[in-house]
Amino acid sequence: MLVRLMYASRAVNPQSPEALQALLHQSRSANPAQGITGALCHANGVFVQVLEGGRMAVNRLYQRIAADPRHTDVVLLSYTEVAERRFAGWSMGQVNLARLNPALVLKYSETATLDPYALPGEAMAALFDEMLATAAIIQS
Ligand SMILES: Cc1cc2nc3c(=O)[nH]c(=O)nc-3n(C[C@H](O)[C@H](O)[C@H](O)COP(=O)(O)O)c2cc1C
Repeated sequence: MLVRLMYASRAVNPQSPEALQALLHQSRSANPAQGITGALCHANGVFVQVLEGGRMAVNRLYQRIAADPRHTDVVLLSYTEVAERRFAGWSMGQVNLARLNPALVLKYSETATLDPYALPGEAMAALFDEMLATAAIIQS
């Protein structure tokens, strides 16, 4: 049984590009063995992450992530059972902010600044779908 979980959190320290790459590297090394796929967005000091996979695997990972001291204010935005994955090609994709069209953010929010805490979970999920469709998600 597959589930998809999305949460938002605030980085405790400003994330250097190196720290973010280290985090992605850690995730990409560990996720395939657990059957986890997904994507991570880091913008304005806030993380949004989508995790997909088996129910046990996703719940276990979410609990570990929620206890990680590198971030705080971890809030669950959505959790659903799904028939198929959306991020099957990504052990942990990264949202490339340079390719994120501000008009896309405006479509779902009051301002062009991406603030997952101010968005309904459904809007954030729709935004992720559009990022996928516009190739704004990369894995390097
Ligand atoms: C924003 C964020 C996203 C993370 N994403 C993942 C992930 O996708 N996969 C993963 O294994 N660890 C991820 N981690 C790291 C975990 O929190 C944790 O450090 C890792 O699972 C190792 O846990 P352990 O030290 O208890 O073995 C993430 C951490 C943060 C702060």
